[in-house]
Amino acid sequence: MSGIPRGTGTEVENLSVQADDIRSQSVVVARYIRDARRLVEAARAAGATVGLVPTMGFFHEGHLSLMRAARDECGYSVVSIFVNPTQFGDGEDLGSYPRDMEHDLELAAAEGMDLVFAPSAAEMYGGGQGTMVEPGRVAAGLCGRSRPGHFRGVATVVAKLFNIIGPDAAYFGQKDAQQAAVVRAMADDLDFHTRIRVMPTVREPDGLAMSSRNSYLSTDERRQAAVLYQALTRVRQAALAGECSASALVQSLEREIGEQPAVELEYAQVVDPDTMQPVAQLGKRALAVVAARVGPARLIDNILIKRRD
Ligand code: PAF
Repeated sequence: MSGIPRGTGTEVENLSVQADDIRSQSVVVARYIRDARRLVEAARAAGATVGLVPTMGFFHEGHLSLMRAARDECGYSVVSIFVNPTQFGDGEDLGSYPRDMEHDLELAAAEGMDLVFAPSAAEMYGGGQGTMVEPGRVAAGLCGRSRPGHFRGVATVVAKLFNIIGPDAAYFGQKDAQQAAVVRAMADDLDFHTRIRVMPTVREPDGLAMSSRNSYLSTDERRQAAVLYQALTRVRQAALAGECSASALVQSLEREIGEQPAVELEYAQVVDPDTMQPVAQLGKRALAVVAARVGPARLIDNILIKRRD
């Protein structure tokens, strides 16, 4: 945004990081909390609203769509890149989670981000993390059940990012519907002033939801993974055609997904989109949600379904 101090040479000199760490392809990178705070405060003092896109990096179109929304709606846009250790359980893919900082910085620059906040784990959790944010009931089922402690880690790091950046709006993807509901509840319960914006899932041409973890799939697994969206689309059509029983819709998901040998269904459910609690009958709006293991990847997806009125 014009008129707002950007990461020019002057700021580079003032930041407590190596110069070559800071500027890459004309996007400013802050590795330290104090530097991010200083840059955001300068933007705010110049009158900008601040948007934050929290990510774990390895950008795909889904991330870019969040950045575009932030850029269109806010005067100063920040994307954070941090593979957050507290949201990974034992035996999960923290060590192998895909990373490509150089490419991410190029993409963030191309999307017109004003600041990339890319702290180390030591910067975020250096003193240990005695205090954690414990999400409520919305985090109990679905991925919360399969990945104990996952949403506690997500809520904690998002609360920290909100406190560091102080965004007016923060952008999340609908693919991670339960995460968005957890963050929304956390922001409400803890009185953050940040508006939570949830943007549509971006899909591959065959419907597979974009995810950094799709890069783990072999060609055959990648082909079979498309069944997740196909099965979700089928239950949306069934609901529109008058099927109101959640268990009938769940059975349809289980049947169709079960036909692909590489896809091991973890859960299929129909839930209330705000509370993430299972429903027995379709109300006005419901969310069909699935999680599955496909080879080394754990994939999730969902679709909003409506009852025929
Ligand atoms: O969705 C993600 O990439 C992460 O869960 C998030 C929101 C950046 C928190 O680490």
